[in-house]
Amino acid sequence: MCPEGPAFIVNRMGQAEWARDLARDLLEQPLPRRWAHTQGVAGRAETLALILGPETDTLIAAAYLHDIGYAPNLVSTGFHPLDGARYLRDVVKAEDTLCRLVAHHSCAVNEALNRDLFDALTSEFDEERPELVEALTYCDMTTGPDGNPLDVTERLAEIHSRYGPEHLVSQSITASTPCILAAVRAVETALAEARQSGEGR
Ligand SMILES: [Fe+2]
Repeated sequence: MCPEGPAFIVNRMGQAEWARDLARDLLEQPLPRRWAHTQGVAGRAETLALILGPETDTLIAAAYLHDIGYAPNLVSTGFHPLDGARYLRDVVKAEDTLCRLVAHHSCAVNEALNRDLFDALTSEFDEERPELVEALTYCDMTTGPDGNPLDVTERLAEIHSRYGPEHLVSQSITASTPCILAAVRAVETALAEARQSGEGR
């Protein structure tokens, strides 16, 4: 049972549905491939219920929202985690947890450094709790650009080949690789342990 009780759980239910509708409105028409990826990431998030329990709804919502900063109407700095998080905070008035998760998803701080947006990102948005941050990074970094499941090493290689070696995104992904791999391994370990303890009951 969730420590906050059933009312808390009921209250939080539906956040994922709301996020899905918002992301679809922003991404489906202008960026269909990004929308396919987004749905794949949200599908991955659903598989983490075993380790996140009632917080899974928050993770699914964050998964739907993590790339809305690519939507043409939202682009401001051109750094999608920051543009997406600012939109959620300022326009949608989304809860802090979602804004923070989107701002820092998939070790975004390294790309922020390369874009000279580190101070803006870190002063406006605190880090969320590691288990949620790592879970979102896991979902994003094990889902391909068309929404298909991918091993993290294939996903990293895919990003490098899509952008090319000179691109700022590729260079940022190189800097983020230890952080991304650590997050993926942490989630895989937590999942394996949860499955094992479930079997042992
Ligand atoms: Fe993504």
